[in-house]
Amino acid sequence: MAESENSSGALSALSTESRSFPPSEEFAAQANATAEWYDRADADREAFWSEQAERLSWAKKWDTVLDWQPPFAKWFVGGELNVAYNCVDRHVEAGNGDRVAIHWEGEPGDSRTITYADLQRAVSKAANALAELGVGKGDRVAIQLPMIPEAVISMLACARVGALHSVVFGGFSPGALKARIEDAEAKLLITSDGQYRRGKPAPMKENTDQAVEGTSIEHVLVVRRTETEVPWTEGRDLWWHDVVDAASDQHTPQAFDSEHPLFILYTSGTTGKPKGILHTSGGYLTQAAYTHDVTFDHKPGESVYWCTADIGWVTGHTYIVYGPLANGATEVVYEGTPNTPHEGRHWEIVQKYGVSIYYTAPTLIRTFMKWGDDIPAQYDLSSLKVLGTVGEPINPEAWMWFREKIGGGRCPIVDTWWQTETGATMIAPLPGVTATKPGSAMRPVPGISAIVVDDSGTQVGNGEGGYLVIDKPWPSMLRGIWGDTERYKETYWSRFAEQGYYFAGDGAKYDDDGAIWLLGRVDDVMNVSGHRISTTEVESALVSHPTVAEAAVVGAADETTGQGIVAFVILRGGTAADDDAKGDEAIKALRDHVSKEIGPIAKPRQIMVVEELPKTRSGKIMRRLLRDVAENREVGDVSTLADTSVMDMITSGMSESKEE
Ligand code: PRX
Repeated sequence: MAESENSSGALSALSTESRSFPPSEEFAAQANATAEWYDRADADREAFWSEQAERLSWAKKWDTVLDWQPPFAKWFVGGELNVAYNCVDRHVEAGNGDRVAIHWEGEPGDSRTITYADLQRAVSKAANALAELGVGKGDRVAIQLPMIPEAVISMLACARVGALHSVVFGGFSPGALKARIEDAEAKLLITSDGQYRRGKPAPMKENTDQAVEGTSIEHVLVVRRTETEVPWTEGRDLWWHDVVDAASDQHTPQAFDSEHPLFILYTSGTTGKPKGILHTSGGYLTQAAYTHDVTFDHKPGESVYWCTADIGWVTGHTYIVYGPLANGATEVVYEGTPNTPHEGRHWEIVQKYGVSIYYTAPTLIRTFMKWGDDIPAQYDLSSLKVLGTVGEPINPEAWMWFREKIGGGRCPIVDTWWQTETGATMIAPLPGVTATKPGSAMRPVPGISAIVVDDSGTQVGNGEGGYLVIDKPWPSMLRGIWGDTERYKETYWSRFAEQGYYFAGDGAKYDDDGAIWLLGRVDDVMNVSGHRISTTEVESALVSHPTVAEAAVVGAADETTGQGIVAFVILRGGTAADDDAKGDEAIKALRDHVSKEIGPIAKPRQIMVVEELPKTRSGKIMRRLLRDVAENREVGDVSTLADTSVMDMITSGMSESKEE
């Protein structure tokens, strides 16, 4: 049985949660997908996916739906398509050039409306500019940009010319960007002069310049956003408004193989080095478009869709760029934070654009709850039809609040479980079919098979928990880890090698009706505000500080962020702060150091200076015990510790430590 890392939420709620919310008859009657889809997909999986692939425009149709040489899959083999053509041009050709693709809302209150015809011109110009810079099929382009239209345009331009993008979240440090540039050997970086951060411009290019130094980057293409002064390297640096604006807005997209790589996206694993998750074209786009259509009940030309993620994460890739645009969606893209300039900003935007589908993260819902019911109550949210969540388990209280206060008690909620690696949604209700339970992702979407198994790989029964595995290949599955086939096999396919299951790294449980409840990670990966951060990465950052001898990091339950980072550090001899003031200073310095090394999202919530760490006789740190301490629980079984007195020392120190 898997250990739940989210001790308070899903597990304890399970025994009491009996509420269930079927869709209204009106909703069910107009829904894109019906219950019959499950049977149809089960009856002939490949025929089902073949039908879904027909949603796209193929320059050449595939010969074989699936070629599965475990653990390597090829989907729609022999097929050819251009992903950007599918997301842009074909909508213009179908007579929908005047349809709004993007309602863009800037943080300071500026806005832009971009139709599909506008998007076609913009992407064509950017594609021509990339080609002029020598970027073509198979090249890698790093992108670190705020949530501005140029981010979406850059990604589509890469797809159009067959280059792979590697988007790096704007909050990541220069060091993190550099490591990603080096791993992918990117030749171009697209960035901006600055980015808005809670109402104020913050520098961007100044930071990215540090990352580019000494790497394979030949050019830096800079979008002007904040009018911030920037350092400039002649010959290397180019302004977007010079190069892209001057390019022709005519560009003929070339078709690429269905398995041509589309992008790399780095994500945290259980070791310090981020993994470059590789996705390809035909299968990825098929599942992105299909799931966007059926889980959100999207109606092209009618729905106004808003996914609040950042393009730096996979949710932004699949459900801001590829899925919605492949479906000809009209979507909102918002640049800023939810409380700039006030805590009603999201609801103001919903009201302004008449948003009908709103997809966000549980951590944000909990934040909205904290800000108070009176805030959304001031806005007209009656346009909303479907609500979605992603990134972490949603606790039933937050689910109910979302349903009542945002959805007016009438909108189905789709809790979508998936990962950077899965590329698109795997487990989620169908909003017109499923009677949803607050806190459950319910069951795999039609065409997907995922099960909960015990240690030996045997499927557990209803009412039982274990590990979540995916037992059949799926179109948008990762095709590997960039440059590291061994790590791909080891990470995902070795745990249940005998059965040939993909191991997701999550614990899960079936309830008495067989609905799936996600229970959080079972490995050393933390989930902070829906973002994956490895304990090892934060530990390495801490140990890179001259005062730290050793560090152990755990994720502890946190009311708002899901998990918070708690670090236990042993200081080097001579640096132990003997008075409180010096101790506070040392801890602040360490928190800032982690923020600088990785980015502000990895800043520990709490750092505790200890004399020793709990270790087994073989030297493995027992994080389970540290988690007990961090979550103020009685410390569990210490019998395997080399020195059993260590935990007493740590717990007595913990009660004196302060949280920030
Ligand atoms: O632990 C699961 C959690 O997020 C992990 C994947 O993180 P990432 O690759 O960053 O992608 C996040 C966005 C798709 C999973 O292993 N997770 C994601 N969605 C859910 C979830 N946990 C519970 N319920 C979800 N709906």
